[in-house]
Amino acid sequence: MTPASVLDVLSQDLSKQLFPVERQLVPNLDDVYELELAFYENHLLADEELIRNAAYFARIGDTYTRHFLMCTGESLKLPEHSSYRLKSFFERNLFRTGYATHGLFPYRGKFHPQMIKGIINVMGLKPGHTVLDPMMGSGTVLVEACLMGIGSIGIDLSPFCRFMAQTKIDALTMSLSRARKALENCEEVFAYFQKQVGKPHPGIKTCKTPTSRGIMAVMEPGAEYETKKNRPQLTGKERETRDTYNLLLLAYLDSAGYSERSRRKSPFDQFKAILERYLFVTEKIQNVLNNVELDLAPAKALEGDARALSLEDASVDGIIFSPPYSFAIDYLKNDSFHLNFLGVATDDIRKDMVGLRGHKLSEKFELYQQDMDKVLSECARVLRRGRLCTIIVGTNNNQIGKAMGVSPKEVRGLHEMLTDLSSKHGFQLVKMMSRPITGIYNTMRREYILMLCRN
Ligand SMILES: C[S@@+](CC[C@H](N)C(=O)[O-])C[C@H]1O[C@@H](n2cnc3c(N)ncnc32)[C@H](O)[C@@H]1O
Repeated sequence: MTPASVLDVLSQDLSKQLFPVERQLVPNLDDVYELELAFYENHLLADEELIRNAAYFARIGDTYTRHFLMCTGESLKLPEHSSYRLKSFFERNLFRTGYATHGLFPYRGKFHPQMIKGIINVMGLKPGHTVLDPMMGSGTVLVEACLMGIGSIGIDLSPFCRFMAQTKIDALTMSLSRARKALENCEEVFAYFQKQVGKPHPGIKTCKTPTSRGIMAVMEPGAEYETKKNRPQLTGKERETRDTYNLLLLAYLDSAGYSERSRRKSPFDQFKAILERYLFVTEKIQNVLNNVELDLAPAKALEGDARALSLEDASVDGIIFSPPYSFAIDYLKNDSFHLNFLGVATDDIRKDMVGLRGHKLSEKFELYQQDMDKVLSECARVLRRGRLCTIIVGTNNNQIGKAMGVSPKEVRGLHEMLTDLSSKHGFQLVKMMSRPITGIYNTMRREYILMLCRN
């Protein structure tokens, strides 16, 4: 090759080869799977759809996309003393995570919301459709779908997950005036919640006589709505009361979790900083939503078991979920403070938690496979034919190798095991993408995105 042709090749811009010039990608798009999702979005979505719902485009012609508008500006108001590592994480991930109300609680094993948005698009889901996450965790799929105008249902065994997901959805539209007032009175709010630690929560056992005076006494009765399965039709005032109470409670639980792990700030200072951040992100997304025309879609967060879904046959248009990574994270132990605070007996739910059942590693792995078989059979039942189910799962060959008593090199990864199981229930693998996981290299190296079509 002549030097001239080398220069010719090097002068080409990859993104201009792949995408039309008027469709400009978001900055920092640096993983191959992101480029793949952007490539499919470009082929599947018309200009107006890209402006409204694209995950990987910043501008279409002269118009900024909604995603770009939601993510730009200060990404998260982090406490002043936050480490350089934390700050750079959010800067680097400006378009991936932390926008809208996703940043309200740092749930472990949570999806990158931007990736979910891209996947929803690539699965062909549009306004009018309904997407299900049968193991919703913090509700990332629900918040994204809601913002994209797509109906959603989320299910999780943990009442704390249901509470967290519902609070994130409600925060997109709640009135913030009382929450701002609560921030001005945050000593009182903090003292109120501290007194509730260890007591049955009013949300579980309806509290007849408010135990405190002042701002929280007004809100306490609102808590009873938060765990009711069939939510009553609330008046505007009641809704504001409930939403404010729940946002404050989530901030308190978030700060209590931090305080257990770190003593760098007093628990009160931690609570105040977290509440300020909650208000900041909530105001920010509400401002964006007020400035652009976006119809939010209904999102239902329910408590339930993914192995026996309380949904009709062929009733959803898409499924996206991430199962617990076999026995990697003990969600109940992680969330024990929060669950205890909500008055939930963790032993009652442990017996149904996928990935936590059994004693010895080998028994746990066996039960995990049986449970995932049931989950996939339920997914096949509720999904309409010809539609897609996307599973996002990491590999943990070291642990599986230990459970099976073989070398990690001989292990079939969870992604292969789930693909095999799914074929038993009428699914066919149509696409597999993978992404590297940074930070937990010993346990988890890659995460797989499996797109399965219901035949
Ligand atoms: C990897 S997390 C999901 C995280 C979620 N994708 C997010 O963005 O936050 C897996 C979830 O499965 C839930 N889970 C475990 N067993 C379950 C079951 N039998 N039915 C429903 N959910 C279950 C756990 O409570 C946990 O929240």
